[in-house]
Amino acid sequence: MTEIEATESIPSTSTQGDIESIADNIKNGHISRIVVLTGAGISTSAGIPDFRSPTTGLYDKLAPLKLPYPEAIFHISYFSHSPEPFYAIARARHPGNLKPTISHAFLALLAKKGLLHYLFTQNIDGLEEDAGIPTDKVLWAHGNWKSQHCWKCKTEYPDDLMKRAIHNGEVPYCLKAECGGAIKPNVVFFGQSLPKEFDEKEKVVGQGDLMLVMGTSLKVAPCSTLPRLANKGVPRLLINMEKAGDFGNRKEDVCMLGPCDDGVRRLADLLGWRDELETLWKDAVDAKEDVLKFQDGPSLDECIAKMAAQMDARLGISKGHKNMLENHLSDKFAQMMSKGPSCQ
Ligand code: OAD
Repeated sequence: MTEIEATESIPSTSTQGDIESIADNIKNGHISRIVVLTGAGISTSAGIPDFRSPTTGLYDKLAPLKLPYPEAIFHISYFSHSPEPFYAIARARHPGNLKPTISHAFLALLAKKGLLHYLFTQNIDGLEEDAGIPTDKVLWAHGNWKSQHCWKCKTEYPDDLMKRAIHNGEVPYCLKAECGGAIKPNVVFFGQSLPKEFDEKEKVVGQGDLMLVMGTSLKVAPCSTLPRLANKGVPRLLINMEKAGDFGNRKEDVCMLGPCDDGVRRLADLLGWRDELETLWKDAVDAKEDVLKFQDGPSLDECIAKMAAQMDARLGISKGHKNMLENHLSDKFAQMMSKGPSCQ
């Protein structure tokens, strides 16, 4: 997985199709195979920050940790020697603490109506399953938290120990004493390959009669390339706070700029599905509330502040140590000078 430079040129007037005709074509059956790509923006209303939004995104929030660069926290080469920042924030981003949004529920409704051809998600929060989207319709392109292994020797690690480590904000280490590698959930880090199904599944994009892209900046390859695989003439709908990728370059593109949850509500209204959508969402949230009661934990900001304080304390100790050595040396030097030059 790699981050890409924002080089796409987006024309200023990009909304050339319209949402009403997309809704009409869903209603009259001309659109029946919807391929979806989602990103962090569909989960922000669940309380989980996205990555790149200025100020509110995770990468800006990580500033107090003074990482070499923000994405390092999810880079395999950084994690291999410094897994602490990842585990410091893991609890706040762990699926147990979250509940699905109405955007997730909308995708579940598409599936229920037999319209969801396939969903590619870059998210690892697992909220697709909580909303009731059938797992055989989803590719978790950036992996998930369901299993874990030692990054070094690849040995699997037990779920209960992993849960405990995440709960305590501690780094779990390989149980093989001679190894000592940190345990990594099976999520895809920068510098790692996507699941092997990705190459095979990306072909389904060409089978779709609507490409729906929600809540992603389209800045990370290879998922960012998927919208371009939609056949020419097939409408592409972006529901996002901002324009992304090459949306707007095709005449059949429609951009609904704003919160995903508002976008899916508007679409549901046009389709006459609004009540059904709200009910499906409420049921999914209620089912998750029962789990949440036992899993309240520190917020992301609290996790970051705690880790930053620990780092400052460590730095304080080493600064103190350095001062002590400097004082010791200058005392020695002063003593030596007070005795005058010596000849042997
Ligand atoms: P980004 O943070 O890059 O982009 C999120 C997009 O969603 C931005 O364009 C936001 O403007 C938009 N957005 C945020 N909240 C929204 C809302 N409520 N409604 C609509 N749009 C909203 O996140 P991704 O594109 O998912 O990888 O990032 C891709 C990958 O980069 C992630 O999977 C992650 C990251 O580094 C790893 O962690 C390894």
